[in-house]
Amino acid sequence: MAVRTILKMGDARLLRVAQPVTQFDTAQLHALIQDLEDTMQAADGAGLAAPQIGVDVQVVMFGSGAFNPRYPDAPVVPRTVLINPVLTPLGDALEDGWEGCLSVPGLRGVVPRFQRLRYQGYDPLGQAIDRCVEGFHARVVQHECDHLMGMLYPMRVRDFSRFGFTEVLFPGLDSADD
Ligand code: NI
Repeated sequence: MAVRTILKMGDARLLRVAQPVTQFDTAQLHALIQDLEDTMQAADGAGLAAPQIGVDVQVVMFGSGAFNPRYPDAPVVPRTVLINPVLTPLGDALEDGWEGCLSVPGLRGVVPRFQRLRYQGYDPLGQAIDRCVEGFHARVVQHECDHLMGMLYPMRVRDFSRFGFTEVLFPGLDSADD
């Protein structure tokens, strides 16, 4: 379909609380998902949320199912479209990890996230998704679902000594597009 413009931090549309999807398996929903897919692929992203392309609905996409040059050390996360998500932390344990965001290009920061998590929601056909995950997979889900609540990862950074430009923090990492 189309590679869409990714909104950047500072755009008020990234601060909205997204609306739930009420109808599944529609042409409109499939077109949105195709646009997310094309846009995420073009940017080598690990995830993308509908609000990042200016669409105010609770749809996120994450995972590559394959090696991602922007996250060379990351474990594989299955490619997932998650709609109307509900996240439930499993335990109180938090884990620090580096994050970037296509809406915050050129920067990375350390963000505490729940280490283990259950997520529930729906796929594009309206079939239930219910998974318990941990580590990087759990981190990606929390990052993407934050976009549906108007939260960008820099809002969760606690230690700004671990926040900065990707090219300085990680010289040599392919960050041309982030
Ligand atoms: Ni993001």
